[in-house]
Amino acid sequence: MPEDIIILKFGGSVITDKKSEIPKVNHKVLDRICNILKDKERNMIIVHGAGSYGHPIAKRYALAEGLNGSQEQKKAIKEARKQVHELNQLLCGRLQESGIETKSVIPSQSMRTRGSRKIENFPVHEFDKPLKEGKIPVTFGDVTEDLIQGINILSGDVIMMELARIYEPRLTVFVMDYPGVMKGRPEDEKSEIIPLVDSETRESIKKYYGEERITDVTGGLVGKLECAARIAEHSQCWITNLDHLEDCICGDFHGSRVIP
Ligand SMILES: Nc1ncnc2c1ncn2[C@@H]1O[C@H](COP(=O)(O)OP(=O)(O)O)[C@@H](O)[C@H]1O
Ligand SMILES: [Mg+2]
Repeated sequence: MPEDIIILKFGGSVITDKKSEIPKVNHKVLDRICNILKDKERNMIIVHGAGSYGHPIAKRYALAEGLNGSQEQKKAIKEARKQVHELNQLLCGRLQESGIETKSVIPSQSMRTRGSRKIENFPVHEFDKPLKEGKIPVTFGDVTEDLIQGINILSGDVIMMELARIYEPRLTVFVMDYPGVMKGRPEDEKSEIIPLVDSETRESIKKYYGEERITDVTGGLVGKLECAARIAEHSQCWITNLDHLEDCICGDFHGSRVIP
């Protein structure tokens, strides 16, 4: 098994315009990612989110709630899968143009879920093989076949959790739009980064958001922190933004460190 691996997740909030109702990628961000990664080690797995690719359809057709038998939903499943795959191709295409060899791992083709947080028969070989060949496996949040409710949304955050358990990476980084987990409302100018997120911090964040409707079909920040806490049992785990990614990869950490 490859030594000293690192795992990065590019959130839908950073690679796409998450507020858009139609798929809208952020090309400048893809360029920045390529510039940061092109002279770095290749012993890496990349996971990405969906943002405006997939999320709006998933919400409109209640894909996270399972199959409802309607023709509209059937079409929506196909369309959502097509969109997230398209985003994956955009990212991988750019990385390849920068000389970084990648291999897509498409969850709807090789992963089944048992509920949104459990992947059955994780296809480890699909990651091992490219890693051995010096390629970067690139996987993403997708619509999976689900053993309980027919279909489900498998988020990139949950895939990260499984990868961390298997590979025990030396570092796991969630890259999102904000520079870390923020105190209070993140959009508030005075809001500051919470440097260390422990179980107490998570409890108070959960309470803070408890009464609000979770708008992200995969649980948004609260779900991400639960995944990050599990990941932290196997790996040093950070949440940061693109401005600090390069430093983090080089061991100069900025953002929020998550501990179990
Ligand atoms: N306290 C907070 N600190 C940081 N982000 C927050 C906070 N509260 C809510 N958020 C929201 O959580 C989002 C990150 O979760 P998510 O949308 O799942 O990200 P991603 O698309 O990167 O997976 C941010 O874009 C932000 O809108
Ligand atoms: Mg998310």
